[in-house]
Amino acid sequence: MILDKSDKCSVLRIAVLASGRGSNFEALCHGDTGNGRISLLVTDNENADVLKKASESGVEALYMSPGKYRTKFGEAEEREWTRFMMDRGIELVCLAGLMRIIKGPMLEEFRGRIINIHPSLLPSFPGLHAQRQALDYGVRVTGCTVHYVDAGVDTGPIILQKSINVKDDDTVETLSGRILKQEHIAYPEAVRLLCSGSFERMM
Ligand code: GRF
Repeated sequence: MILDKSDKCSVLRIAVLASGRGSNFEALCHGDTGNGRISLLVTDNENADVLKKASESGVEALYMSPGKYRTKFGEAEEREWTRFMMDRGIELVCLAGLMRIIKGPMLEEFRGRIINIHPSLLPSFPGLHAQRQALDYGVRVTGCTVHYVDAGVDTGPIILQKSINVKDDDTVETLSGRILKQEHIAYPEAVRLLCSGSFERMM
């Protein structure tokens, strides 16, 4: 969907936006993303472990101020992040644990080209603490979802899902660990699909 057939062999530059640990960033860097190349990492957290992981991976990485709010961008800052990515020729944006809602200029500029990974089988358990929500509800199957980002919280069209069984003795930690393993498979796979042009555009 992102590439025309004529573009099929060209490399697509991808930015990852993350706030913390960065295991999905690593999975994207080391996984098979087809024509997609992780070219940029931007974080809203100066102390994020993902910065270290980016320097180990040789990917351009930087902290940019998100503005004064806690869970969304300031309008001017969201414009700066957007401009920065456009100047670097970014064509696909992967959110990987970015603890902020995207609503303004970034969504307009990259509509249909921003994707996210979430640790539940959406539309079940959107938002924070998805693994805890799944355990509390008592579902027997859960997993992860890669989806397009729209103006809602974890509501965009679904690209790909992986499921796992919930065990009787699962804790949030054990369940999260098994879901995370699936995330690391699902995210590169979804990016590969999108970059190959074989996935129909849904937004
Ligand atoms: C993952 O569980 C992802 O699904 C969620 O945030 C977490 C990020 O983990 N959106 P990491 O920073 O990629 O290790």
